[in-house]
Amino acid sequence: MKVLVTGITGFAGSHLVDYLLTIPGVEISGIMRWRSRTENIEHFQDKVRLVECDLRDASSVRDAIDQIRPERIFHLAAQSFVPTSWTAPTESLITNIIGQLNIFEAVKKLGIKPRIQLACSSEQYGMVYENELPIRETNPLRPLSPYAVSKVGQDALGYQYWMSFQIPIVRTRGFNHEGPRRGPVFVCSDFARQVADIEKGRKPPVIRVGNLDARRDFTDVRDIVRAYWLSLEKGEMGEVYNLCSGKDWTIRAMLDLLLSMSSVKVKIEQDPARMRPSDVPVLLGDASKFKKATGWEPEIPFEQTLRDLLEYWRAR
Ligand code: GDD
Repeated sequence: MKVLVTGITGFAGSHLVDYLLTIPGVEISGIMRWRSRTENIEHFQDKVRLVECDLRDASSVRDAIDQIRPERIFHLAAQSFVPTSWTAPTESLITNIIGQLNIFEAVKKLGIKPRIQLACSSEQYGMVYENELPIRETNPLRPLSPYAVSKVGQDALGYQYWMSFQIPIVRTRGFNHEGPRRGPVFVCSDFARQVADIEKGRKPPVIRVGNLDARRDFTDVRDIVRAYWLSLEKGEMGEVYNLCSGKDWTIRAMLDLLLSMSSVKVKIEQDPARMRPSDVPVLLGDASKFKKATGWEPEIPFEQTLRDLLEYWRAR
């Protein structure tokens, strides 16, 4: 089966390929921009086909999809860091919404019907009230950042292209996922890197933080990519599914857990630059719809995820 992964050089994309390589009969292609960093894919680069393509350029997307003729598309490429969407809102919306639209239009014009998984996000729920927890797919969407709006747009387009053209699309709303290779700007990775730097004496023993009161539902990226695969194998086309662990952590509790894995003594300092104009206070999800459809269960405890992430930074 021919599988295309967009965002193959990224965090989730590279973990998805690690997983796909364990499934017999899967032929993997990835699209990447020519300047993309390749450190996450060096270990499997000779086992996949890489095609250069900028998702924001419709003709380049059509050419790439025509060459690959995929039967499955995992659409993971995106501008995925929430704070960047405030400094570069136009670029974030173009990359995320128009980039995806270009895939849909390419598939439509080529007359092919690959199953497509869209990496939508729990950020779409945005402002969630305590009496709405845990969040189900039916919760209202109250996005609090341009990034979240871009994901609402991707999600809505996915629904619309399924309804209008029967392009077989499954939307997964992933809650926070972490693990080795996580980009250094995201909170678990940022804090783990700071701890590793302090351990090596590369930085004074001060951890710089933003809003520690936010609550997030963390899942290991390796469990999430398995869910991506299952979403197209066992999920119902046209549907939307939450992917989450069903347990929330305050960012403070996550930091405490991380610090318990190290012997360094640190001071914690709030950095005003790390505060957001509107931060999503709580994301705690209910994945029962997806579990029922596919039999998926997250397997890796968050403690293990954080430990692996810390080891990743210690080794660098
Ligand atoms: N990045 C960062 N750095 N976040 C911090 C910090 C810090 O120093 N201190 C506190 N936080 C808080 C943020 O304010 C936020 O409430 C929480 O930690 C998580 O921040 P991120 O790791 O940047 O992730 P996110 O929740 O904004 O978004 C991630 O999850 C979404 C799914 O829920 C991203 O991976 C998105 O792409 C994804 O869609």
